[in-house]
Amino acid sequence: MFLLYLFSSFTAVSGVLGSSPSYNGLGLTPQMGWDNWNTFACDVSEQLLLDTADRISEIGLKDLGYTYVILDDCWSSGRTANGTLVADKEKFPNGMSHVADHLHNNNFLFGMYSSAGEYTCAGYPGSLGHEEEDAEFFASNGVDYLKYDNCYNKGQFGAPETSYKRYKAMSDALNKTGRPIFYSLCNWGQDLTFYWGSDIANSWRMSGDIYPQFTRPDSRCPCDGDQFDCAYAGFHCSIMNILNKAAPMGQNAGIGGWNDLDNLEVGVGNLTDDEEKAHFSMWAMVKSPLVIGADVNHLKASSYSIYSQASVIAINQDPKGVPATRVWRHQVPQTDKYGQGEIQFWSGPLDNGDQVIALLNGGNKPRPMNTNLEEIFFDSYLGSEQLSSNWDIYDLWANRVDNATSANILNNNSVGNATIYNATALSYKDGLAKNDTRLFGTKIGSISPDGLLNTTVPAHGIAFYRLRRST
Ligand code: GLA
Repeated sequence: MFLLYLFSSFTAVSGVLGSSPSYNGLGLTPQMGWDNWNTFACDVSEQLLLDTADRISEIGLKDLGYTYVILDDCWSSGRTANGTLVADKEKFPNGMSHVADHLHNNNFLFGMYSSAGEYTCAGYPGSLGHEEEDAEFFASNGVDYLKYDNCYNKGQFGAPETSYKRYKAMSDALNKTGRPIFYSLCNWGQDLTFYWGSDIANSWRMSGDIYPQFTRPDSRCPCDGDQFDCAYAGFHCSIMNILNKAAPMGQNAGIGGWNDLDNLEVGVGNLTDDEEKAHFSMWAMVKSPLVIGADVNHLKASSYSIYSQASVIAINQDPKGVPATRVWRHQVPQTDKYGQGEIQFWSGPLDNGDQVIALLNGGNKPRPMNTNLEEIFFDSYLGSEQLSSNWDIYDLWANRVDNATSANILNNNSVGNATIYNATALSYKDGLAKNDTRLFGTKIGSISPDGLLNTTVPAHGIAFYRLRRST
């Protein structure tokens, strides 16, 4: 009992490192926004950013919280003779501050990209050795967010301190500008970023690049399973691959510094609806940034209703800021009557005493799954009030906006009178405090201390619930 109690007290404080919740006061909840890379790669322009921002605004996504518009690689054309970065004149005829002004006038925040290397990953000028002048360039152009990549780093990696120093140089340079700039590391988890990321940054990529596949292995993403210390991160990493690498890392993330599982593939490629729901739910639950990777001008209605699922976003933006923990993971053999695949159970505490849980089916057939209060509150000591209470179960997807309403919003380029959550009018924190029903899903039953929560989880799918103490 004593040991269990100690364990419980320890886990209660983990997730927030040090006494300061954020090294620069930013990132109190995971960032939300849009980044062009997953869909447009190098095909960037002023037109793309401004059209996208207008659309995000019109279809209600900005008011759901997607406020950072992030321009990824391929925006520059070199440096001037005295070393200042130059925006590509064809892609950005009016310069970057024009883009920033337009975004700010529409209440967006502006993200840009560079690399802690000689070149960016696509071969444009990088910022290694140019940290101060580049930070000044970003600040003077009204940039609010920097994604900072890891290509062409001249071999300056291989030990945590080596990578730390390279990334700290830009952190210091950004601070020196005096402008609040969200600092988003993209060093793919190399050199154990989760140990030092929150000292100097607000989020850090923890894997190689995502691609729109749920489980498919790819030799270009060579580390698999729970390999959190991956020397060669690569790319074409599946959703389950990244999630499994992230599973042990939640303990090092929290308010002010988040594990970044990469931009969302909802609405990109050919993921099924269940795959998109599972992907979005898990990114929300582990407190990854929620950054849309899709072309919002060609979004399927079903993908729109995933991005706009406020009761799931409220899990991500929960003020407690504690990433959920994977409680168990089983590999199911081929001989199982529901087929081969891996199944997992995740659980995490929320600010108001509720608990979020996920039954995740990585197999390619629907499968009955279950859990109980001992698994759900696995951190609680015996005799805990949590284990002896009855809990109501709220399905976090049951109140999803229907396809016809979503299609109307997309076709009319307006939310109209649909009741899409508006976090500009009522923040998630305040909405949760006021028990706004749109943030709590739909009650589907309850579970008692000796009860079993049974459900059938779709192939490559999720059962995603919020548990509230019964009154
Ligand atoms: C790397 C990053 C990606 C993207 C590209 C741009 O691969 O991990 O997220 O920024 O570079 O070239």
